[in-house]
Amino acid sequence: VAMEHPPETATLTQTESQPKTQEVTILYGSETGNCQEVAEDLYGKLESQPCNVTLASMLNVKPKNLKNADHILVVVATHGEGDPPEPGLSFYETMNSRKAPKLDGVHFSVLSLGDLSYEYFCQAGKDIDQRLEELGGERLYPRVDCDVDFDEDAEGWIDGVLAELSKYAEGPANNDGSAMDAPLAQPTPAKEAYSRKNPFRAEILENINISGRGSNKENRHLELSLEDSNLEFEPGDSLGIFPENDATLVEQLIECMNWEPEALVTVNKQGEKAALREALTSHFEITVLTKPLMQQAAELSSREELKDLLADGNEDKLRDYMTGRDLLDLAQDFGPWEIDAEAFIKILRKIPARLYSIANSYHANPDEVHLTIGTVRYETHGRARTGVCSGQCAERTEPGEELPVYVHRNPNFKLPEDPQTPIIMIGPGTGVAPFRSFLEEREEIEAEGKTWLFFGEQHFSSDFLYQVDWQQWLKDGVLTKMDVAFSRDGEEKVYVQHRMRENAREFYQWLQEGAVLYVCGDEKQMASDVHDTLSAILQQEGGLSEEEATAYIEDMKLQNRYQRDVY
Ligand code: 2AM
Repeated sequence: VAMEHPPETATLTQTESQPKTQEVTILYGSETGNCQEVAEDLYGKLESQPCNVTLASMLNVKPKNLKNADHILVVVATHGEGDPPEPGLSFYETMNSRKAPKLDGVHFSVLSLGDLSYEYFCQAGKDIDQRLEELGGERLYPRVDCDVDFDEDAEGWIDGVLAELSKYAEGPANNDGSAMDAPLAQPTPAKEAYSRKNPFRAEILENINISGRGSNKENRHLELSLEDSNLEFEPGDSLGIFPENDATLVEQLIECMNWEPEALVTVNKQGEKAALREALTSHFEITVLTKPLMQQAAELSSREELKDLLADGNEDKLRDYMTGRDLLDLAQDFGPWEIDAEAFIKILRKIPARLYSIANSYHANPDEVHLTIGTVRYETHGRARTGVCSGQCAERTEPGEELPVYVHRNPNFKLPEDPQTPIIMIGPGTGVAPFRSFLEEREEIEAEGKTWLFFGEQHFSSDFLYQVDWQQWLKDGVLTKMDVAFSRDGEEKVYVQHRMRENAREFYQWLQEGAVLYVCGDEKQMASDVHDTLSAILQQEGGLSEEEATAYIEDMKLQNRYQRDVY
C-alpha cells in the first residue's frame, strides 16, 4: 500500500497472494478523539477479513494516495461554523483544490459526527461526501450524519458499510474466486468494561471552590474515586460526566406543561421506562433548543406564532429565538400546550456527557481522578442560568454522592514519548488543568526534559489556581520555568501571549531544541492570539517570512509538536 505509515497508522494484510485483494482505507478527522474511536472500531471489525485495511488520520494522509484504494471510508467531525477538524484542515484544502486525486472507480462512504444545535450540522461530512463524488467516486453506502449521541447511528453505519463491502466482494466485479467470501459483519462480544455506554458511578471525594475571596469566578476542584473501576487514563485525557438537569427547572417545566411528574415515560429505544421527573432530570436534554426540536414542537402546537417562526424566510428570527433559551422558555412562550409527556419526550435528545480535562496523573494515583471545573453562570431572557454540569457540581453535588463517568481518550493531546523532550504548556484559566496532570506524571516517572508553564488569570490573590503545586514543582525542578499573566492586577491587561513575547528568544530556542508546544483553554480569543504570537516569534527570532512561519507551524503539527485542546 502506498499510504504513509506514521506511528498511528497500521496496515493489516490478511491474505497471502490472492489476486484482487480489496484495498480499504479508513480515514478519520478527529478533534476530540470520537472519530478516531469509531474508525478504530471499524478497523477492528475488518481485521479478520480478507482485505488490506489502512487506518489513517487525515493529518498524515497524502490525498493523492487515495487513488490506490478500492474503498475509502471516512469518519469526520465538524468543528465550529461547519469547518473540518483541525487535523483535517490541510487534507480538506488539497481535496478542494486542483491537486485533488481523480477517484474514478473508487467506492466511498462517509460517517459525519456533529451537533444538531449548530447551524452547520455535520457540514464537514457533507462536504467531503459531495467532493468524493465530484472526484469520480461512487457511494458504497449513504452518508450518515450523527448528533452528539452518536453511538447507535455510528454502529448502524458500520454495519451498513460492512454489508456493502461483503456484497461487493461477492458480486460480479470481484468474481475471480478471491477472498471475501466470509460474511464481513461479525458481532463484537459485549464488553463489561466501563465506557461511555456503560458509565462508572464515581464517588465524589472532594468538591471545593479554589477561587479565592474577591474573585469574579468560581473554579472548583473535584476529586472522584475510580477505585474498583479498572479505568485507566493518560495525561491529556478527559473525564466524561453525565450530568443531571436542575430540579427547579424540571419542576417548572412539568408545571408549565401540566404534566404528572410521576407518570411513566419511555426513556430509550429499548423501551425502558422512568418517572417523568427522573426522565427530564437524568435522561433528556432540556437546556438547548435545536431546529429539529423546534420543527417538531411546532407540529405538536396549535400556536400560529410558533409555526410562523419555522416558516421559510424566518431563519434569522428562529436562530435568535433559540439562542440562550431552553425548553422552559419554549413551553412558556408558546403555551397552553395540550400534549402528553410521552409524545413530547420523543422529540428530545439524550442528555450528552460533558468532558473535562483530567488534572492528575494515573501513575501517581490510579484510584482518583481530579478535575478543574469553572462554574458557568449567566443571565439571558430575564432568567439566571447555570451550565448543566458545572452548575450541578457547584450547587447540587456533595462529597459522598456519585456521578456517572467514563474516560475519554484524547490522542491529540499527549506527552512526548521521550521524557527528555522539552515541553511548553500554555493554559490560562481552567486550561491549566491538564498541565497539572502532565507535571505530576513527569514527576512520577522522573522525567528529565525541561518544562515551561504559562498561566494567566484575572487576579494573583484570588485566581492563582494550584499555586502551591506549581511552586513545589518549581522548587523540585519538575517545572523548569513558569510565567504568569494576571490580567486585572495592573493598569494594563497582560495575557499569556504577552509573556511569550517578552520571552521570545528563549521561547524560540526551546522550539529549536524540539520542544512540544501545548495550548489548552479558550478557543475563540486566547488560542488564536497565542497562535498569532507563535508566528510572530518565529518571524522575529527565526528571521522567517510570514509564509515560512506558517510552514514551520504546519511542520510542528505534522510532528505532533503543536497540540491544542481548546474549547
Ligand atoms: P480578562 O478576563 O482580564 O480579559 C483566564 O480567563 C485569563 O485569560 C484571564 O486573565 C483573561 O483576562 C485572559 N484572557 C482574556 N482574553 C484573552 C486572550 N485573547 N488571550 C489570552 N488571555 C486572555
